[in-house]
Amino acid sequence: MKPRDLDRNELLDQLADVAQRAAAAAVRLIHDERPADLGITSKSSSTDLVTEMDRASERTIRATIAAVRPDDVVIGEEDGEVIPEGGGSGVRWWVDPIDGTTNYVYDHPGYNVSIAAEVDGEMAVGVVADPTHARTYSAVKGRGAFCDDRPLRLGPAAPLPACLVATGFGYDPDRRGRQGRVAAELLPLVRDIRRMGAAALDLCSVAAGRVDAYYEVGLSMWDLAAGALIASEAGARTGTIDGGPLHPRAVLVAHPERFDELSRLLVELGAPEV
Ligand code: IPD
Repeated sequence: MKPRDLDRNELLDQLADVAQRAAAAAVRLIHDERPADLGITSKSSSTDLVTEMDRASERTIRATIAAVRPDDVVIGEEDGEVIPEGGGSGVRWWVDPIDGTTNYVYDHPGYNVSIAAEVDGEMAVGVVADPTHARTYSAVKGRGAFCDDRPLRLGPAAPLPACLVATGFGYDPDRRGRQGRVAAELLPLVRDIRRMGAAALDLCSVAAGRVDAYYEVGLSMWDLAAGALIASEAGARTGTIDGGPLHPRAVLVAHPERFDELSRLLVELGAPEV
């Protein structure tokens, strides 16, 4: 179905409903029906894990989307970009079937299913389902952010030395070393650092006020798409670490009153160049 067949509000309602149902189906599969043997292998490095459940989750999500919106483009972490015959409808989905796969493998809380839909190039709908805490975060552009039914809105900005800052590390060992050195220099200047292991949920944690900011270099769009919309609809500023428009290569998300200060500090510490 082409976006123009529905008015914008109807389209957003439909995409939000599909995203919620796809995330719920994936959660049933990976969490409620978690098998003893996950079928673990590695991808870009020995620490970059993938399981058969990542692949099965992506198939489930793709099938749920295709049942309602067969003409949409879908880009997923495991199967890449699939463009339907005819070139697509103007809607493009970003799917991380399990964000935080290392957490998932260890059965450590914090893995999630992240699904976003972009309409004519603008991120419009995001859902991040966190099965271990039984919470689902969501946002529709212009309609605010929610954790289940509870609206999320940032409170007052903490001063920099009182900021709890989340970050993450890539899979390349050299880059991890450099990222660790930046984090070590940041640590004495802020309240503390958190490395929870799942970017989409880190972004939701900014929205929910569980951390004051999040930065990371070298993400992919599927890690980021849903969570960044949720953070921004909750009132956070999203961008690159050096203050440019949001891009997965170097992400910073913070209270709008703290963003520039953190950006200056992280640039000084060399965070964008790791
Ligand atoms: C990873 C997680 C992790 C982040 C990595 C991501 P994946 O996603 O979000 O927290 O530090 O950069 O690649 O590989 O588990 O989907």
